[in-house]
Amino acid sequence: MAALTVTAACGGTKIDATNVSVVAPNVRAQPASVKDADPDERRGLTRDVVRLNCGKIKCVALTFDDGPMEDTGRLLKILDDYHAKATFFVVGTMVEEDPAMVQEEVAHGHEIANHSWDHSDLSRLSASGVRSQLKRTQDVVHKAAGVRPVLLRPPYGATNARVASAAKSFGMPQILWAVDPLDWKDHSSSVVARRVLANTRRGDVVLMHDIHPTTVSAVPKILASLSGRGFHFVTVSDLFAGAKLVPGHQYVERPPSKVKQQG
Ligand code: NI
Repeated sequence: MAALTVTAACGGTKIDATNVSVVAPNVRAQPASVKDADPDERRGLTRDVVRLNCGKIKCVALTFDDGPMEDTGRLLKILDDYHAKATFFVVGTMVEEDPAMVQEEVAHGHEIANHSWDHSDLSRLSASGVRSQLKRTQDVVHKAAGVRPVLLRPPYGATNARVASAAKSFGMPQILWAVDPLDWKDHSSSVVARRVLANTRRGDVVLMHDIHPTTVSAVPKILASLSGRGFHFVTVSDLFAGAKLVPGHQYVERPPSKVKQQG
């Protein structure tokens, strides 16, 4: 194999070039419509120069819900320090209050995903109510940052056939999580870090919340420790790249063999 190695975007570890694909910088002409846009462009990933192959290397997807909020900017700096990419499951009303922060998230190469308009329990809403929650959030994210989320996380993980059907109609798989440090309940950086570090396995989706300063303060330790164990920090879409995500279905981790079929 050629001697070419790439100092990857994640963890600073050298990666064999057979495990990465290099994506051209964002020099494409503007598409005529959103429908024509490259899927990567739609989800705001054009700034990723190196795309890791998580079918071959050890990846984890850190996800941050319910923002953006005051500490999100601090989190972006921390993620940059470790060359880590993450996914922000944003709430529409929060995007409306701070659209510039969502632009920042996109500018730093992170993925923006849909976490409903106002954090309602979608499983208690009518079909049209669910669709409205998804649509309003898609629209406000697009207005704020020019990207359209391709993933849904229903608040509280509360889902049912109506939510699945709405997600499917928007072309979005439902991304739940494999690791939950209960950071909304225990506002302790050391507890949150310990739980994430004790439970994270290759291919996991990890749930956290950037609305809690204690969670943001836990992230440096999480990144340092998982980097040391050889993890690469990727967006959810990159975690699942090459493993087909079915709109409406639920996922908590790669590989797809663990997919829960929607009943
Ligand atoms: Ni939430």
